[in-house]
Amino acid sequence: MLTRSPADPDGILEGVLISDDDLRKRVQELGDRISRDYEGLDPLLVAVLKGAVIFAGDLLRAITIPCSIDFMAISSYGSGTESSGVVRILKDLDAPIEGRHVLVVEDIVDSGLTLSYLLGSLASRGPASLEVCALLAKPDRREVDIACRYVGFEIPNRFVVGYGLDADEQFRGLRYVATVDESRIAL
Ligand code: PRP
Repeated sequence: MLTRSPADPDGILEGVLISDDDLRKRVQELGDRISRDYEGLDPLLVAVLKGAVIFAGDLLRAITIPCSIDFMAISSYGSGTESSGVVRILKDLDAPIEGRHVLVVEDIVDSGLTLSYLLGSLASRGPASLEVCALLAKPDRREVDIACRYVGFEIPNRFVVGYGLDADEQFRGLRYVATVDESRIAL
């Protein structure tokens, strides 16, 4: 069910793409897999702000082995909604990752440009391993080849919001992932 009010006073949301229930189940599955794969390795989740914050929090709680979390903030879009390929680190990790098993947590991989830059930066710091867990992936939009070890859902090339993803900073708090009426937002 779409939340029309007060979350969406302008009626921009079009439909639910991934329900609250499906998100919960899939995040639990990912948490179970990660717990098995990283047993004894004390992985470090690196969550990419801001979009990944909800997913990373839920994933962290679904992981049943010792695990820590850190955050990075990067700017990926030059303007509008297209990745420019120009990526800046706005907030870096608090501690070195040399010898750590690092799992980058992203809300969405679109062109892959953001992640490509980020993985390059992290790889140069000498982690023991470096993998990606993305909640959403848009295969049709990929411009660079990124190996994502864990993907929650592959989705069509639609503008989506909710569960951390925004349109002009709105809708991050929705419990589901929704498509928006793209004719009604300034892209
Ligand atoms: C989004 C998303 C990824 C990136 C993916 O971030 O969180 O970091 O875009 O796009 P790409 O694969 O085409 O590079 P955004 O810049 O919207 O910032 P936000 O996470 O703060 O919303």
